Amino acid sequence: MKLWGGRFSKNASSFVDEWAASIDFDQILYKDDIKGSIAHSKMLAKQGIISKEDQEQIETGLIQILLEIEDGKIEFTHELEDIHMNIESILTDRIGDAGKRLHTARSRNDQVATDIRLFLKDEITNSIKFIDELRAVLVKIAKNHVDTVMPGYTHMQHAQPVSFAFHLLAYYEMFTRDKKRMENAYESTDALPLGAGALSGTTYDTDRDYVRHQLGMESLCANAMDAVSDRDFAIEYISAASICMMHLSRFCEELILWSSSEFSFVEMDDSFSTGSSIMPQKKNPDMAELIRGKTGRVYGDLVSLLTIMKSLPLAYNKDMQEDKIHLFDAVETLNTSLKVFTEMIDTMSINKDYMRSAAKKGFMNATDAADYLVKKGIPFRQCHEIIGKLVLYCIGEDLTLEEVALDKLKEFSDQFDEDIYEHIGLLACMDAKQSVGSTSQVNVRAQIERAEAALSE
Ligand code: ARG
Repeated sequence: MKLWGGRFSKNASSFVDEWAASIDFDQILYKDDIKGSIAHSKMLAKQGIISKEDQEQIETGLIQILLEIEDGKIEFTHELEDIHMNIESILTDRIGDAGKRLHTARSRNDQVATDIRLFLKDEITNSIKFIDELRAVLVKIAKNHVDTVMPGYTHMQHAQPVSFAFHLLAYYEMFTRDKKRMENAYESTDALPLGAGALSGTTYDTDRDYVRHQLGMESLCANAMDAVSDRDFAIEYISAASICMMHLSRFCEELILWSSSEFSFVEMDDSFSTGSSIMPQKKNPDMAELIRGKTGRVYGDLVSLLTIMKSLPLAYNKDMQEDKIHLFDAVETLNTSLKVFTEMIDTMSINKDYMRSAAKKGFMNATDAADYLVKKGIPFRQCHEIIGKLVLYCIGEDLTLEEVALDKLKEFSDQFDEDIYEHIGLLACMDAKQSVGSTSQVNVRAQIERAEAALSE
């Protein structure tokens, strides 16, 4: 018998029951559902809406059910639609009328909204923990590579020399902002819908603030209709998750490129790589590719939930049952991707020598050579042209700038002196960057110090 079966003279076909049920995916909410129900029952007893004895039976019964679910002893049914009605029905089978009193002054609409928020608060905490672990690993690796020179690119062409630490710290900044976005989503999630009833509040003398306190939530949803109608907090989380996945994906893309023989800057550990079933020599950076692929999946979750919500009139509509599929998928995908990514970069090997020799190519010190002439009093535009011609000469002769003899350099400008060579060394080019936040060793060490201070907070 359905918990709402009174008005009906006929059951839905079992195919329809199964098709419309959410129990297959919302059973993950069992802990939060039970937590919410216990808090609700305590409030009902405190307010004299149910007896103390009923409350005790409800609480003991729910705790028993929780343990049995955890032991895998409970079988849920599609007929009972979702986790909320499955648990309530099992409880009522066991304790009778007391169980039937639990749903007083409550609707599944405020119940499910509460469960999702409780669930999401925990998962955002996990996301933040995984982001922090990643930030710590980035800083740890960066510390060893302040003087590891590599090419910095624009348009995927050699641009200016940077340190590997500097490149890693760029990602550190991005993940730090991702954490901030997660904290904002947490704040939006941390409000209690319970007590809103179906949509307009309840006639009982409830104490919503007591329930809020029991459930450790920061505030009460201020408007009952809003409380049951919106899922913007979940959309906020998935937006933050999408941005974080985008950062992971860009990083993965670089690691995949850097793993190719054209670069050989890094090599993923065997435990994060796979081979080919036909080509014996292959070692593929599969995990990085998978994270890049899963990014599309999280974007899909975001667009799905936005689309589910976009035309819904207030208040609750059954469409919203689909929210969980996308929210849960985004949570699981982001958190596992962060975990895999962090371990993957923590165990990869870094080939300083290849980075350095790649940095020697592509005339990345050309800007610095021009700056050298500027310091000798030649206007920058003219220096740009002189060095441009010198680069063209070097391409023809297959030389780097620093391989050109001083006599030859003087043919391009008589302002060149012996000290040009120390000015255009790769480390010198890096260290000449004085602006705050630049790639010079001094500035990168300062960035690392700031990051370490932030991480130990
Ligand atoms: N399984 C439903 C969901 O996840 C619970 C809320 C149902 N409310 C209702 N009025 N039918 O959205």
